[in-house]
Amino acid sequence: MTSHSLPPTTVIAVIGAGAMGAGIAQVVAAAGHPVKLLDSRPGAAAQAVAGIRAQFAKMADKGKLSAAAAAAASAQLSAAGQLNDLADAALVVEAIVENLEAKQKLFADLEAIVGPDCLFGTNTSSISVTAIGAGLKRPERLAGLHFFNPAPLMALVEIVSGLATDPAVAATLFAMAAAWGKTPVHAKSTPGFIVNRVARPYYAEALRLAQEGAADYATIDAIMREAGGFRMGPFELMDMIGHDVNFAVTNSVWRAFYHDPRFLPSLIQQELVDAGFYGRKSGRGFYDYREGAIRPTPRIEAAQAPVGKITLYGESAPTEALAERLETCSLSFSRMPASDGRIAEIGRAVIHVTDGRSATQRASDTGVANTVLIDLARDYSTASWLAVAVADQCEPAAAQAAIGLLQAVGFTVCRLADIPGLAVMRTVAMLANEAADAVNQGVCSAAAADSAMRLGVNYPLGPLAWADAVGVATIRDVLANLGASYGEDRYRISPLIQRAVFAGRNLHD
Ligand code: NAI
Repeated sequence: MTSHSLPPTTVIAVIGAGAMGAGIAQVVAAAGHPVKLLDSRPGAAAQAVAGIRAQFAKMADKGKLSAAAAAAASAQLSAAGQLNDLADAALVVEAIVENLEAKQKLFADLEAIVGPDCLFGTNTSSISVTAIGAGLKRPERLAGLHFFNPAPLMALVEIVSGLATDPAVAATLFAMAAAWGKTPVHAKSTPGFIVNRVARPYYAEALRLAQEGAADYATIDAIMREAGGFRMGPFELMDMIGHDVNFAVTNSVWRAFYHDPRFLPSLIQQELVDAGFYGRKSGRGFYDYREGAIRPTPRIEAAQAPVGKITLYGESAPTEALAERLETCSLSFSRMPASDGRIAEIGRAVIHVTDGRSATQRASDTGVANTVLIDLARDYSTASWLAVAVADQCEPAAAQAAIGLLQAVGFTVCRLADIPGLAVMRTVAMLANEAADAVNQGVCSAAAADSAMRLGVNYPLGPLAWADAVGVATIRDVLANLGASYGEDRYRISPLIQRAVFAGRNLHD
């Protein structure tokens, strides 16, 4: 087996002409390979070929592709009538129904037809590549070739190695995906591979926040977008994916990890599925999409005055961002050296960034009743929104002054119920923890984990790079405090994070 990309003259077969198969065929034809598309549903392959040709023509109309390139790519495509027509394929990409037996049977049938060097790629997103290969005479030729939807637009491809996959086969598929203009990452066949595993906390922590009454859906979505820098909030994203699909993936990962509480599905989402409220596609989910429905707006704090003397502490990133923002709006302040982690005081209020303790616990631990916590922001210098939590012991005037200060420097402020870890911080800590565990368990490299999450689900930063930027020790503390607050194994700290903190290094070192 060669670890180089297959030359563009080689024939590539795509089986399954649904949403994914058609998208993959488009990518492969655009890269110059002859592509044979096959589907068991009569007429489906021919219809998909016509659809892809129309796509190429549209791209040519818009100037994204030359007319000659569009014609050449279109000419590469053909619909195959039966498996026997695929005998000359150098690679077969399977994108049929998500069912183990169907996939095993298809590859077993193919083995009798294609040549001994033909490679097999499966686009499965949730079935073990090891299990699919178990039915083959030569399982070493099979690897996962996991595209993301829509395949022509999404850059990421997970190259998934099962237990029997020949590393040279994985290397060839990696080189091929790169030659097609994609960004491939290697992953070991474990539940959820990289993206569908590491992304779970994005949904799970939001569902926990909602279940504990931290805030309403619209407010949490706005915080995750405007402070966290995520493209979509978790609730609007789940509504878009569809709760039937998102809940099924969560359940499948949870079951596959033998009910590890990290992946525990949510009763809130179970209720939506039971009700048939699948999200946008059914007209109702967390939000109501039916005609005339009014989209709820986030709950933001009414304007307060920044009453009191302002002092900034230390030189941490949030302190420096606050200093910059205060200067911009000509508010005067004094500076003090770092002291007990506080970033600022205004009047009688003391402001900290959350460390995973509730504000109420922190006030009790430190003896500072007027404790106000701020959430993590992707970038405190540019974020337009910020979430806060206020200790139960805090005087109302102190809370108002702290909120007034944040508003004065340009933040739209949302006050969450006093739940540990607020919204962005607990989510980023759990995403980093999951990515760290995937790396620690040899599923992928740190670089692959980060690039998969940026490209597969559009995160503004890879979770490990994000943890490095926040400070690995801070992430460790947040997780430890969440674990202590809830007493749940769900928040146990990845050994990789613990080791990095002890060694004083970053997760990307
Ligand atoms: P789809 O339902 O749109 O298309 C599947 C196609 O396969 C259908 O046209 C069906 O007629 C055909 N088919 C079923 N059994 C067949 C067989 N034995 N031989 C030939 N054709 C057969 O499904 P979709 O969404 O395109 O998914 C395909 C695969 O890609 C699944 O394994 C899925 O888990 C995976 N995937 C799906 C993603 C998505 O977002 N939809 C993302 C990444 C992977």
